[in-house]
Amino acid sequence: MPTAEELAVRLSDASVRKIWDPYHLFEWPDELLPEDHWYMSPELISIYGTDVWEGLDETQRKRLSFYELVNLFSFVLLGERLLIEGMINRTYRKATRGAISDYLHHFVDEENKHMIMFSTFCNRYAEGGVYPEKKIAAPREMPKGGDEVGFFCKALIVEMVGDVYNVKMMRDARIHPLVAQINKVHHIDEARHIAFGGEYVREVFDRVSKEWTPDDLRTFQNWLAQFLVSSWGDFYNPSVYRDAGLEDGYGIRKMALAHSTCRTFREDVSADLVHFFLDVGLLDEAPQL
Ligand SMILES: [Fe+2]
Ligand SMILES: [Fe+2]
Repeated sequence: MPTAEELAVRLSDASVRKIWDPYHLFEWPDELLPEDHWYMSPELISIYGTDVWEGLDETQRKRLSFYELVNLFSFVLLGERLLIEGMINRTYRKATRGAISDYLHHFVDEENKHMIMFSTFCNRYAEGGVYPEKKIAAPREMPKGGDEVGFFCKALIVEMVGDVYNVKMMRDARIHPLVAQINKVHHIDEARHIAFGGEYVREVFDRVSKEWTPDDLRTFQNWLAQFLVSSWGDFYNPSVYRDAGLEDGYGIRKMALAHSTCRTFREDVSADLVHFFLDVGLLDEAPQL
């Protein structure tokens, strides 16, 4: 398996070859009406398969698919904002000197373009624009180096979960073609980010966790499991349900978080990510999602 440094050289070359421009790639319609199209594949909608979903007619489902997509784009975009901040702070350090810093330039460039693409969609077509962030990370005691490992784990959560949605939607002929295109453009860049991030976090974890006691490791694993669970909480946004015209947004969130169909969906979408975390030792058991 290539090292993160070897990967960084290859991925930088690919980034240069595939460079794109968010201002010229897309044709943005003047207006998009929530009821006029599917915007998210129905099977990806947070309450798909529940009684609330079954009680909606097609127009209501399409309207919900629009706000669910705006929520997904908001979740990814806010994750990317944190990623850019963290990546830029990590350039030119001893550990990232050379090829890795070179690749981080592309990473930051591409995430910035993703933010332009997602925020253009949300701000142009949704009256409320980007949904604001809700979660504030709880204060925690991390073992030495845990913040560094944790940063790259957070990146992988946003990127690997987001990419499951990308891959499904870029091939879905039912949804609006602009949305399929955005998902495809995002997937092409994210495939490189995930390849790099996975190898890099493995190397950082192997290095820093050598110094950890069993308690340190448990502290880290507990934090990561909780972070993954709370990340999924953002997918059940009461404002989305309200904007889609459904009553009792908090009630729907609570119902969906407890619903076995929705839990199975979260487990399926997270399967590759959790498998990776278990394989590296970042988790020691699959969390209850
Ligand atoms: Fe991205
Ligand atoms: Fe990314």
